[in-house]
Formats: sequence, C-alpha cells, structure tokens
Amino acid sequence: MDKQLEKLFQDQIKNEWYSAYMYMSMAAYFEAANFEGFAHWFYKQAGEEQVHGKKMFDFLIDRGVKVVLQAIAQPPADFASPSAAFEMAYEHEQKVTALINGIADQADKVNDHPTKVFIQWFITEQVEEEKNASRIVNLLKKIPANSAGIFQLDHQLGKRE
Ligand code: FEO
Repeated sequence: MDKQLEKLFQDQIKNEWYSAYMYMSMAAYFEAANFEGFAHWFYKQAGEEQVHGKKMFDFLIDRGVKVVLQAIAQPPADFASPSAAFEMAYEHEQKVTALINGIADQADKVNDHPTKVFIQWFITEQVEEEKNASRIVNLLKKIPANSAGIFQLDHQLGKRE
C-alpha cells in the first residue's frame, strides 16, 4: 500500500477510537447529570466508532500492512450543557468526514482500487453520522434548558436501537 495512504489509515484507526473514547466521556457526563437517555445515545455511538476503527484495522491486515496503534488523547470530561456536548459531537463528525474524504482523495491519487471501494462505506456512513448529530443539535436549540422538552428528548434518545 502507498505509504501516505497507510499513514492516513493508521491515524484514522486512532481517530475512530478517539471518537469512541470521547463519546464514552460524553456518556459519563450525561450519567452524572442523570440524563440516562442521552448517555444511552452516546454509548451506542461509541460502540459504532469501535466498529469503524476495527473495520480499518482488519482492512490493513487484509492488505498485508502491520497495524501500529497510536496513543489516544484524553477527551474532554465536562461540557457547559447538553447542547454543548452535542454541538461538539457534531463538529467532531464534520472533522471525521474531512479525514475520510482525505483517505478517499489519496486512494484516488494513487489509484488504489480496493481502498476506493472500501472507503465508500465510510463516506456514506458520515452522511448519516452528521445528519444524526445535527438533528439533535437543532432540536436542542429549540428546547429551553430545564424544560419538560429536554426530558422528553432524553427519553426519546434512550430508545436508540
Ligand atoms: Fe466513525 Fe462517527 O465516524
């Protein structure tokens, strides 16, 4: 595999697992604030990120590349409000989208056909990831803090499959 492409993948495994770590931190914040539904949503999100990282881990192995895991940074532990946590999650997903697009660009540049196919799944997934986070950000903007609406949304997100 092209060295630059390999580096992007090694970095992205870390980025996906950092995402999982950050979402677990957000879940911990919501647990401490007794918002079990929001915490549940972030547990599910963290689980997806672990799967994303593992997909890339397996892909590198399938391509004969040794995976070298990198250090994962400490995520933020406190957020100004539920809204601030979801806004950070949404902004984070936009950054991840840019990183995934960077992998796709490099795969195009070096004409790596297997990566071009592999990365399509992530490109589609990011559309979903951004949509889910931005919807919640927009809903929270309409809900006054400590109103019944926020408890209703917490209840609703607690049902995420
Ligand atoms: Fe793995 Fe949330 O992107």
